[in-house]
Amino acid sequence: MDIIGLGYVGIDAPDPEAWLAFGRDIIGLDPGCAPIAPAHLDQGRDGRGPDGSVYFRVDEWSWRLAVHPMRDGQERPGLRYLGFEVAGEAELQVAMAELEAAGHAVRRGDAADCQSRAVSGIAFTRDPSGNAVEMFHGPRVTNLYRNSKGMEFLTGDMGMGHVNLFSSNYEESAAFYTGLLGFRMTDFYQVGEGQTVNFFHCNRRHHTVGLMKVAPFDAIHHIMFECTDIDMVGLAYDRVLAAGTKVTASLGRHSNDRIISFYCESPSGVEIEIGWGAITVGPDWTPRFRSPGDLWGHHGLTAEAIAEGGKDK
Ligand SMILES: [Fe+2]
Repeated sequence: MDIIGLGYVGIDAPDPEAWLAFGRDIIGLDPGCAPIAPAHLDQGRDGRGPDGSVYFRVDEWSWRLAVHPMRDGQERPGLRYLGFEVAGEAELQVAMAELEAAGHAVRRGDAADCQSRAVSGIAFTRDPSGNAVEMFHGPRVTNLYRNSKGMEFLTGDMGMGHVNLFSSNYEESAAFYTGLLGFRMTDFYQVGEGQTVNFFHCNRRHHTVGLMKVAPFDAIHHIMFECTDIDMVGLAYDRVLAAGTKVTASLGRHSNDRIISFYCESPSGVEIEIGWGAITVGPDWTPRFRSPGDLWGHHGLTAEAIAEGGKDK
């Protein structure tokens, strides 16, 4: 199937309000338009949904990142869902048919499901790690988006950014994202004996999904947003330092996507990477085995720290 890009991400947190302050005031995301009934579109523009969820936008889309309250009995926060965009209704039906043919349970979303994500059509499935994967088309967009912190994010045909996931069953997960969803491997690092970090693209962005085979659990490690100017990264870094937010990787440049970025810890544990300057890839790209992982910087981003930190995510 043809995935256009990562359209949106949902995570959950013990305190979405704390996340709202972090995302808005420190990272520089904007409060999104909560996906609520069209008759009430004048509400929810402060990023807050009626159930305590908070929503963020980074471009003209009404939202891109949702932070939901944890469910009763839920032990730890983490990834709630990944939303992948397809071109339209015909492509959604192809995606559903291919998933079903491969033995994956697929549920077609109804009008309420579409409203909950502010999209026109949606289907739900899970990847081999149990992560909720959503396919959708027709996102709601808004007029005259302006970022309140002077940030500008690279989105468009590259999607909202990327996510890196811990994968306890790497081979099955890689087969799902490549064989079924149509991703292609960009490159991988070997970070230890039998440990690899693997990057996959579905559009020009170097990677949209990273799968980390470093530890025997499934979790989300980080969400990356890419700025259009290095100064935006620096200004966000200054805001993070001024707020006393934990920096988990100092400013640095990865050797594979060449992004200059830093990582910091969000209030729910999932790390946020803010970067600039990543390379893009095209149809002539072939997978590479790359080493080492950084040209400079990113101090703190070791395989041991990644694996250890993931236990709490
Ligand atoms: Fe990243």
